[in-house]
Amino acid sequence: MEPFALEAIERIAAAARPSYETIAVAPLTPIIGAEVAGVDLSRPLAQQQLDEVRRAFLAHHVLVFRDQVLTPEDHKRFARCFGPLRRVPLADVDGGDPEILELKASKASRFVAGEAWHADGTADAEPSLGSLLYVTQTPEIGSGGDTLFANMHLAYDMLSPPMKQLLDGMTAVHDGLIPWQGHVPPPELTIPKNEHPVVARHPETGRKLLFVNSGFTSHIVQLARAESRAVLDMLFRLVESEPILTCRVRWQPNTLVFWDNRCVQHHAVWDYYPFARYGQRVTVNGGRPAA
Ligand code: SIN
Repeated sequence: MEPFALEAIERIAAAARPSYETIAVAPLTPIIGAEVAGVDLSRPLAQQQLDEVRRAFLAHHVLVFRDQVLTPEDHKRFARCFGPLRRVPLADVDGGDPEILELKASKASRFVAGEAWHADGTADAEPSLGSLLYVTQTPEIGSGGDTLFANMHLAYDMLSPPMKQLLDGMTAVHDGLIPWQGHVPPPELTIPKNEHPVVARHPETGRKLLFVNSGFTSHIVQLARAESRAVLDMLFRLVESEPILTCRVRWQPNTLVFWDNRCVQHHAVWDYYPFARYGQRVTVNGGRPAA
C-alpha cells in the first residue's frame, strides 16, 4: 500500500474516541462499525443516552444493537430521533406501513435488495441520512446473509493527491433506474435521477468523503464518457477490493443496525439461497450533499 494510504488509515485508527457513561461501545474494526450495549430500544432513550448514541454514530458510522425486541413503532420511534422518516415508494399499495421497507429473501427469491455496493437513496435530490435495519430471521442453516459496510471517508483519504485534486469539484449523476436493470419497474413508480458532488463533506463532521456508488452512479458529468467509465470503475473497485475500508455485520435474530448513508456504503451478501432471511428497514431523510 502507498505511504499516503497508510497514513490515512493510521490517522483514522488513531483518532480520539468519545467517552461514554450510559452505553458501552466496542469497535468492530479500527476504521468502521461498533457494537453498542446497554441500550433498550423498546423504550424512549434518556437524553444523555441518545446524545452518546449520536456521538458513537458519528465516530463509527455503523452501530450494531443486539437482542432488541421491537415493535414497528419502537423501531420508528428510535429512527425519528435522527430526523423525519422517508416514505417507501408503493409500500402502502398492499396495505403495508409506508415507512417500513420489508427485506425478504427465500427459496422463491430471484434477487435480493442491496446486493451491489451502494448507499440508500443517492438518486434522490436529498439522499437519506441513515437507515435502520432490524433483522428478525436469519438463514436456518445458521450462517450467511451478512452485510458489509465501507467507510467512504477512508476511501477518499486513500486516493493519491493528484486523484483527489481531479475529483474535487466534479459532479456525478445518480440514476434510480440502475438497480432495475434486467427488470421492469412498476409504471406508477417515479424514478429519481439527480446530480451530486463526487467528493462531498459530511454535514455534521465536515470531513470529506467519496460520494459515488456502483448501485446508483451512472457517470461523472465533466468527463468524456470513456473517461468517466474508467474513473468510476476504478473507484468502485477500490470499495470492492480494499477490506481495510470495511466491516462485516453477522446478523443474529433481533439485531438492529443503524448506518450513516452519508459516509458509508453497504452490500448485502446473498450467500444463503435457498434459505430465508427477513428484516424491516426504516430510513431517515437527509439533505442535499454539499461539496
Ligand atoms: C439494504 O438496505 O440495501 C439491504 C441490507 C441488507 O439486507 O443487509
